[in-house]
Amino acid sequence: PDEALTAVIDLDLPGPTISRHIYGHFAEHLGRCIYGGFWVGEDSSVPNVRGIRTDVVEALRALRIPNLRWPGGCFADDYHWKDGIGPRDERPRMVNSHWGDVVEDNAFGTHEFMDLCELLGAEAYVNGNVGSGTVREMSEWVEYLTRGDDSPMAALRRANGRDEPWKVPFFGIGNEPWGCGGNMAAEHYAHLARQYGTYVRNHGGNEVTRIAAGANSDDYGWTEALMKAVSWLGCARDPRGFFQAISLHYYTINGSWDDKGDATRFDTDDWYVTMLRARRMEEIVRGHAAVMDAYDAEKRIGLVVDEWGTWWNVEEGTNPGFLYQQNTLRDALVASVHLDTFHRFADRVVMANIAQTVNVLQAMILTDPDTGALVLTPSYHVFEMNTAHHDASALTVNLRGDVPTREVEGTALPLLSASASTTGDTALVSLSNLDTDEPLTLVLDLRGRDVAGTSARLLTASTLQTHNTPEQPEAVAPVKFEGVRPHARGLEVELPPHSYVTVSLTLG
Ligand code: AHR
Repeated sequence: PDEALTAVIDLDLPGPTISRHIYGHFAEHLGRCIYGGFWVGEDSSVPNVRGIRTDVVEALRALRIPNLRWPGGCFADDYHWKDGIGPRDERPRMVNSHWGDVVEDNAFGTHEFMDLCELLGAEAYVNGNVGSGTVREMSEWVEYLTRGDDSPMAALRRANGRDEPWKVPFFGIGNEPWGCGGNMAAEHYAHLARQYGTYVRNHGGNEVTRIAAGANSDDYGWTEALMKAVSWLGCARDPRGFFQAISLHYYTINGSWDDKGDATRFDTDDWYVTMLRARRMEEIVRGHAAVMDAYDAEKRIGLVVDEWGTWWNVEEGTNPGFLYQQNTLRDALVASVHLDTFHRFADRVVMANIAQTVNVLQAMILTDPDTGALVLTPSYHVFEMNTAHHDASALTVNLRGDVPTREVEGTALPLLSASASTTGDTALVSLSNLDTDEPLTLVLDLRGRDVAGTSARLLTASTLQTHNTPEQPEAVAPVKFEGVRPHARGLEVELPPHSYVTVSLTLG
């Protein structure tokens, strides 16, 4: 029995809090995410509240989504917020150059976004414009959103129908300045982040976490430039410091950026390459965390992974600029692997935002452009199965024995991913078996607390490529899992091939 693959979990040794904000989302003015996804307009035949789709809000409320990032992405550095306020029929139009070169009518603007956040019960993460916007523009947006007295911007907000200021706890200082957000060098942007961040002010009781636009993938030099910039004069210790967090973007693709692979037509080898690339998030987060530790051992500056997920070639017949892709069981396992990583780095990763919520990239929800029918994706179900991790204390999972591996692109890919957390009276263990064909038996050696009750859920499908459609909306959906048995050291779990399992424990 000692040779059995075992996960040792000390239930009485809670670690850092897994911020609920790592379960954050992202909605860009891109393709059918905002328009058609969230927003249909008040006159639509699709049921809506003030223009916002009722079914989308209901589905997302079940995920308890903690925050929503908007309006981009690359779009953010083209966006001028004053074009999106006031009477809708008088709002100026603009070209959405990044995404399909379509004309944007600004029907969905600041008030509509904040209304959406209130309907979702989510906190707002507004991303400002550094690439083509001014310091004054950014400063005035924050004043418009959050100031309560009779300041010029507060008065303008009232004139547009909103008396009370909103809370905006998160504000992004530009997006991808190394690319679409201005093609800047790291040091140049680091100075701008200090400058712009200075004018993102805390008005009244609204305290903003300013998020500097961070690295692409493993560009550790970018993070170092930002850490140097924020460390001057001890700013990391100053609550009025220029920024309090740094972002990171990393996408999982299967091939190259020119040919990223297909969402549904893939084989077993593709599956494993995808899993290898998804597990790379761990190495990348570790690398950035190490750079940050060197400047900020007390972990005052947070790492915000505000774009992550799969990026496949677009579905045939759809606009290449709209980034619409299907979502299979493979995407679900990519999500679970990433979330395990974020749980493990809970002391540094304070927020994460999967890209993007509806109809774009690794979406939670797909809507049919013709019928309006809504489908929950396999990725949605992973987020739903994990809600008990929100704000829970991370538990270390020590794996003993030989974790099965597979040689992929010269690297041994571990085929088990696991993480756990506790809230005091309960614990949740998340287990992903990445093996396409073989089940995996795992002993959960549960120490330090009595386990009074157990229940488990399973997400899998007959094929790796299975996905949900309006005709078969529950082809991939969680079911009760019967593969957990008592064991002398706790529990024994028989994970089916290509599956995601959550084991909920009631602690005595
Ligand atoms: O999420 C799609 C795009 O990916 C975002 O607009 C951009 O920030 C990133 O390159």
